[in-house]
Amino acid sequence: MSKYSNVSIKHLQTVEERKDSLKVRIPVFVDEQKYTLESELDIYDDVSQHFVAYCDKERQDGTVEKHVPVGTIRLTPKPDHLAKLSRFAVLSDARGLHIGQQLVKAFIQYCKENDFDKIVLHSRYEGRGFYAKMGFVIEEGDDAIFDEDGAPTIRMWMRSL
Ligand SMILES: CC(C)(COP(=O)(O)OP(=O)(O)OC[C@H]1O[C@@H](n2cnc3c(N)ncnc32)[C@H](O)[C@@H]1OP(=O)(O)O)[C@@H](O)C(=O)NCCC(=O)NCCS
Repeated sequence: MSKYSNVSIKHLQTVEERKDSLKVRIPVFVDEQKYTLESELDIYDDVSQHFVAYCDKERQDGTVEKHVPVGTIRLTPKPDHLAKLSRFAVLSDARGLHIGQQLVKAFIQYCKENDFDKIVLHSRYEGRGFYAKMGFVIEEGDDAIFDEDGAPTIRMWMRSL
């Protein structure tokens, strides 16, 4: 098992930098969760903001690889000051270290500083506990479980940032 330390979150600025988010999205969504590469690389990437969590990774032989991408999250601007959160992932062997939580906090902070006043996301129904912990809620009247890519999914909101 790799050891990760020294987490930093970066707001990516260029298409070149964006490749780092794919170093997380492809292992998680394509290799692990079996989405096709075509569906993973959707039309929203070019109009979204991307954030990546980097860590130093200590290998089993004791050597350290610096600044390795281990997590990512995507913000897609929608009308009426709404931010959509998606493509949120942490590499499987880096989970449980609160890297996901730090990515969501960075996302919320960016929203506050950039004139967004609410956030929406589609959570796998079974994964809703993570977002609830972060302050997202399922709203009455918008609480139907729907199918997204074959998985039971629910919409969650954070308002009044
Ligand atoms: C979801 C994901 C990004 C979380 O990343 P992570 O770095 O492992 O999460 P964290 O370590 O920041 O977890 C923060 C807290 O949420 C809890 N948590 C994590 N997943 C949870 C879940 N499914 N339900 C309830 N709580 C959960 C953790 O135990 C931790 O609790 P603590 O603060 O009491 O210790 C990661 O599990 C992942 O990449 N999953 C696969 C991709 C995916 O499904 N993405 C979401 C699409 S909807």
